Amino acid sequence: MKKIFISDDIKLDSVERLTRRSVTKNDILNLLTVNGDCQQELFRRARAIRAENYADKVHLRGVIEISNFCQKNCDYCAIRAQNKKANRYHMSVDKIMELAQKIRSFGIDIVFLQGGQDPKCVDLMEEVIPRIKHELDTSILLNLGEWPEDVYRRFYDAGAQSYILKYETSDPVLYEKITHTSLSERLECARWIKEAGLKLGVGNMVGLPGQSFESLADDILLGVALQPDFVSVSPFIANQDTPFENEPTGDFNVTLNTMAINRILHGAALIPAVSALEKVYPDGQLMGLDAGANVLTINFSPAETQEKYKIYSKDRFVVTYEHALNIIKKSGLQRAQA
Ligand code: 5AD
Repeated sequence: MKKIFISDDIKLDSVERLTRRSVTKNDILNLLTVNGDCQQELFRRARAIRAENYADKVHLRGVIEISNFCQKNCDYCAIRAQNKKANRYHMSVDKIMELAQKIRSFGIDIVFLQGGQDPKCVDLMEEVIPRIKHELDTSILLNLGEWPEDVYRRFYDAGAQSYILKYETSDPVLYEKITHTSLSERLECARWIKEAGLKLGVGNMVGLPGQSFESLADDILLGVALQPDFVSVSPFIANQDTPFENEPTGDFNVTLNTMAINRILHGAALIPAVSALEKVYPDGQLMGLDAGANVLTINFSPAETQEKYKIYSKDRFVVTYEHALNIIKKSGLQRAQA
């Protein structure tokens, strides 16, 4: 890629316009690759906006990975339908309830149920969500893929509050090439999620094979257009037994810069420091908090299913409760009380 020298003054002007939210795509392009003092200024502004909206509190979520069956066949993901080596499982209702109880016992009030795009999960939800609500009184966040409009209404009626459906890339050609499905259909699902009354989480990956900086800037602008409640960014990590197994890892700094830009543009959105950050860089999640994130997701899946849920790596970083508290402490922030 052609490198054009852009002075720090120009980059600081871009930070200024970003903070006033009168940003152009060119400003975003200037900021995606900032480093050194300009990057620190970008992060400082992002932290100031987080402080205004969240009083320096970090929210904890407890995730349970309920199924690794998936109808989709995304080239970056090891639970893709065509991966014959994936050792598939569905978690039972009793097991989900046991783990949700464990999440509650740690004082965490958001139960996050995540799985592949698996029709079995849809039916399971109408049994599990009301039980979690009734017995544990937590809020419920789902990440279960693309479904017809009425399914999102059923999730809402069962008692779920929020739903994450990342677009991964805003480039329709790239999206179709790597997921073998349509971006416009996925974005239609995002609209249905909101219309059903659920809070919406979106986001992208940084470093997908074939992705350009232009396209990363468009990812950020698409996020703004969707007016989501959560925005997440992950560095791409090559995954064994996928067509992308030999591709390079996404750029860590571009990922952090995207998070900081998102914080400034979205103000009150929940922004996680995802576990993939820690996988690609030691203390990566701490740096994510420094760049304006305010959510950590703790993994409550039992060891035997964790091992089978290889969304980004066969040896992904699994966030424990102790790790989360440790980095909150190191960041100088506080845990939001349930
Ligand atoms: N690298 C990084 N993130 C990934 N995800 C899936 N596969 C990968 C990968 N290879 C992320 C996607 C998805 C979330 C559950 O995990 O963003 O939405």
